[in-house]
Amino acid sequence: MAVAPSGGTGRDGWSSRTAFILAAIGSAVGLGNLVRFPAEAASNGGGAFVLFYIFCIVLIGLPVLLSETLIGRHGQSSATQSVRRLAVESRASPYWEGLAGLGVLAAFMILAFYCVIGGWVLYYIGLFFLDLFQSGVTGGALQGLSAEQIEAIFPALQADGFTMSGFDIAFVAITLYFVARGVSGGIEVVAIWLMPAFFALLLLITIYGAFGGAFTDTLGYLFTFDFSKLTGEVMLAAVGQAFFSLSLGVAGMITYGSYVGRDVNLAGTSAIIAFADTSVALVAGLCIFPIVIAAGLSTEGGLGLMFATLPHAFQSMPFGSVIGLAFFIMVGFAALTSSVALMEVPTSWAMEKFKTSRALTAITVATLAGLLGVASAYSLNTMSGFHPLGFIPLFEGEGVFSALDSVTAKLFMPVGALLVCIFVGWIADPKLVDSENGLDGALHKFWRFLVRYLCPAALLAIMVAGLSG
Ligand code: PFF
Repeated sequence: MAVAPSGGTGRDGWSSRTAFILAAIGSAVGLGNLVRFPAEAASNGGGAFVLFYIFCIVLIGLPVLLSETLIGRHGQSSATQSVRRLAVESRASPYWEGLAGLGVLAAFMILAFYCVIGGWVLYYIGLFFLDLFQSGVTGGALQGLSAEQIEAIFPALQADGFTMSGFDIAFVAITLYFVARGVSGGIEVVAIWLMPAFFALLLLITIYGAFGGAFTDTLGYLFTFDFSKLTGEVMLAAVGQAFFSLSLGVAGMITYGSYVGRDVNLAGTSAIIAFADTSVALVAGLCIFPIVIAAGLSTEGGLGLMFATLPHAFQSMPFGSVIGLAFFIMVGFAALTSSVALMEVPTSWAMEKFKTSRALTAITVATLAGLLGVASAYSLNTMSGFHPLGFIPLFEGEGVFSALDSVTAKLFMPVGALLVCIFVGWIADPKLVDSENGLDGALHKFWRFLVRYLCPAALLAIMVAGLSG
């Protein structure tokens, strides 16, 4: 059962390096890779976005990922306490913990709308499950419905605050079940079982789509680089997506890092996590677009790409009913391993802050996130005229739901990552930092250069360019 990660502190932690890698990949791989990445790529010029995205992952995401995990591993405590400990041991102001405090808040906000989308996934799993009995195994999905009726399911769901809230609460409850059981007893169990199943399903569906779908057209679409499309806004979208996808800037990886034992090389494992996450985003593009393009449908449409266009495309495919069900189960697995990470961040913070039990803390976090989720579900329709951040040009016209997404990806995450870079690169004692990072030689110098100069400069430039439109 629970294994103290280091020094016999008695604190719960990952039972092995593999458990940590799978849980961290589980946190990184999620709706961001499967829903957000293809949608962002489609609405930001395809290849130009993809190339800049990969650039952001390698040169900004990976160094920040290593910085976050090393803060956590050094601190062996909640995200804020971990930052505070490194700050105090470096003779810097303890108020640096505020950077993790911002992250905890952002993780909570993401958790709220993430579980609403998780709820949609549950709804579609139910829909395709019931459909299997009607359409049969070999037939295409949703046989009894016209194309218009299929495309209308998603807007109808989004207009139905009550149903959305019900599925949202169900998804929050499933997440809560695992978080309440602890790190080694719940969180890593989900990752160890669901991540391998996720990879198997993703590969199977991609191979299926590659044979029946428009694979070559997709390659052209995702990998043709038209640099005239690389505007400030596209760059901000790419960096926001990179952070969202790697779970950075919201204290998530500080929290997961805090459960890692001393024997784990953080640089190597960070590289594995970033590589796996990026591969899944690209494979998700290669999984989804061929099916959509082959059915002659548009790749645009944001979230509708997954929840309206794909179900439509599954209708015309042989075995579409089975593939549709398998697809949404796969998305559900990815979403759950991420929502568990999102709930763990505020839970571990509050447990330490208020000295409360894990179960009680997790129930409180889940209840609050569920309430905010219900508000954002209703904002999609009933409160559609309510734009809390409408006075900022970047968030014009956004309701609670999309404001939570935008404000976290475009503001909290880049700012959080910038503060992490300044803290690790300039404030923290280099001896302490170097004792954790698992790097030496030229690679170590390069990482320090990235964290001290390139990442903060790039983040500032991208934020200025993106925020000024
Ligand atoms: N990385 C997740 C995704 O791509 O869906 C989202 C996420 C999970 C963000 C955990 C932040 C986090 F702490």
